[in-house]
Amino acid sequence: MRLPLRDYFRKKNTDKSTASDQLPRHIAIVMDGNGRWAKQRGLPRTAGHHAGMVALRRTIRYADELGIQVLTVYAFSTENWKRPRLEVDFLMRLPSEFLKTDLAELKEKNVRVTVIGDREGLPHHTRDSVHKAEQETAGNTGMVLNFALNYGSRAELLHAIRNIVEKVSSGSLDSGDIDETTISNHLFTASLPDPDLLIRPSGEYRLSNFLLWQLAYAELWFSDVYWPDFDKVHLLEAIEAYQRRDRRYGGIKL
Ligand code: IPE
Ligand code: IPE
Ligand code: MG
Repeated sequence: MRLPLRDYFRKKNTDKSTASDQLPRHIAIVMDGNGRWAKQRGLPRTAGHHAGMVALRRTIRYADELGIQVLTVYAFSTENWKRPRLEVDFLMRLPSEFLKTDLAELKEKNVRVTVIGDREGLPHHTRDSVHKAEQETAGNTGMVLNFALNYGSRAELLHAIRNIVEKVSSGSLDSGDIDETTISNHLFTASLPDPDLLIRPSGEYRLSNFLLWQLAYAELWFSDVYWPDFDKVHLLEAIEAYQRRDRRYGGIKL
């Protein structure tokens, strides 16, 4: 099952049919289940988060090899501050730990790193390391690796609405001109296409405040696998399920 999909993609890519029709352009992942993975093994939750980072590293490699254009990963939600201080501190150190070891490879692969979420709420060291990665990869033209960090969809919508209202008050935007595109353009994801496929592992069937607007017509794929065990086989399974879906967007197939 593994190689055929990649061969299929490559083959499609070289003939006249559009590979983008077959492959999701943008995949969003809720990296969930780290804590339960650790608990199952009698390890501290932080060990689960570390293993989750390893799973992220291999998922980035597979997504890049397959030719995925955008990979958005939910790393920390606006609600995750409710967790114990030590766990939050560990999670806030993970981006720099990850980038310290992986930024060179990402650059070599022409990957562009971006971040969505409320940066102001992040500790300085976290903000600085993701900012450095964004700056150093800003000119890259390959896969976009988009980290949702201190991200909450409702906070994002609120932020967008405030910005729009400010523009209307200052006269730079006419309220009659506000449409769906105006809203999309004021979200943190303004420069990105909407996700085609949402992957949520760990047996939870909810969005947990992730990309509520952007996922309006995404195909959803759930699995019981905990994120640290997520591997190529799961990614391919999700993409193959996606390829079997009939995306109608409210219309009908004639
Ligand atoms: C996802 O794993 C990582 C973050 C939310 C940061 P969890 O830590 O939520 O793991 P579970 O859901 O408790 O197993
Ligand atoms: C969602 O997972 C957030 C991230 C994976 C970063 P949570 O574990 O926080 O979600 P809930 O609490 O199960 O909804
Ligand atoms: Mg969880």
